[in-house]
Amino acid sequence: MKVLLTGGAGYIGSHTIVEMYAAGRDVVVVDNFVNSSPRVMERVEEITGKKTPVYNADVADEAALDRIFAEHKIDAVVHFAGLKAVGESVRMPLEYYANNIDSTLALLRAMKKADVRKLIFSSSATVYGTPEKCPITEDMHTGDCSNPYGWTKFMIEQILKDYSHANPEMQVILLRYFNPVGAHKSGRIGESPRGIPNNLMPYITQVAVGKRAELSVYGNDYPTPDGTGVRDYIHVVDLARGHVAALNYDKNGVGIFNLGTGVGYSVLDMVKAFSTVNHVPVPYRIVERRPGDIATCYANSEKAEKELGWHAEYGLEDMVRDSWNWQSHNPNGYED
Ligand code: NAD
Ligand code: UFG
Repeated sequence: MKVLLTGGAGYIGSHTIVEMYAAGRDVVVVDNFVNSSPRVMERVEEITGKKTPVYNADVADEAALDRIFAEHKIDAVVHFAGLKAVGESVRMPLEYYANNIDSTLALLRAMKKADVRKLIFSSSATVYGTPEKCPITEDMHTGDCSNPYGWTKFMIEQILKDYSHANPEMQVILLRYFNPVGAHKSGRIGESPRGIPNNLMPYITQVAVGKRAELSVYGNDYPTPDGTGVRDYIHVVDLARGHVAALNYDKNGVGIFNLGTGVGYSVLDMVKAFSTVNHVPVPYRIVERRPGDIATCYANSEKAEKELGWHAEYGLEDMVRDSWNWQSHNPNGYED
């Protein structure tokens, strides 16, 4: 089986290539490197011993996709390509709507022409907005997103539901990721954000490595055990394996799955675990809440266990150890 990964050079995509090969799948990548480095592919080759065909193209370029589908007999597509920075999406909504939605529409048209019927889409827990309860199940209300990035995920889910309804031969799988962290155990691939990290784990690792002075903890007055925000952090390798499991799902229509661990950790839990496991201090300061943040968000992932035969295997210690292994060996990410 040959799988096209759009955005395959990104953080989650690169880890997914490794797990696809480990499961005996063939991979083709299309990425325009708007948020990744071509060096990622050399590192993936080091780990896997495989040379992945890579097309440097925008997924919104339908003619480029047509060429890829003509050159490879693709059985399934995993659609990672998209812009993902929440704050940036508030400042640049049109760029986010255009990039994320146009690329999805072009992909669907090209898939239709090439008669490719399986699509796995990178959705996000952000579609649940402020959840009425935790753990979150897939049937809970979606919408009320707090930023344009979140709305693109919500809208693309709707587009895919409508498209699948009109094309009953399609198999569409919406994977709603919780908070991916960690890195491949080799320390050769990992998360390499541009500029100041938005997300907690890359910020912690950059403080630990001395690139930033201290972590700002956004609020300690939430209704959580220690007052700081609680999230469901999931090791990126577990998440990558969730895509491999989804390839075997062969029901027509739309399957929706949460990919999380089902366990919530607070910001201070993460800081403490990171310092204790890695023996590195992480200075922090409590500051104001970050606008748009919610108190608590964690998954019920039983549906993925039952229907995909997937569950997360790595725990908090693995996540903080592997995040640090990556950052400490690559202080400037792929820029060295
Ligand atoms: P990433 O930015 O590392 O990877 C995305 C890749 O897509 C990058 O390599 C980028 O260059 C590429 N890309 C973007 N727009 C493109 C386009 N128009 N044409 C071709 N390539 C394009 O992000 P990631 O963390 O690996 O996330 C992958 C997917 O998962 C994204 O859709 C993201 O929204 C979603 N997601 C991520 C998280 C997270 O916290 N990392 C959480 C939930 C969902
Ligand atoms: N936090 C800090 N300091 C920081 C960064 C984060 O205290 O410097 C806190 C946040 O307030 C929150 C927690 O750490 O309580 C996690 O924050 P992240 O920014 O790492 O993650 P979010 O849950 O806010 O959002 C992430 C992705 C979104 C995605 C969402 C749900 O950034 O794209 O998970 O999947 F939609």
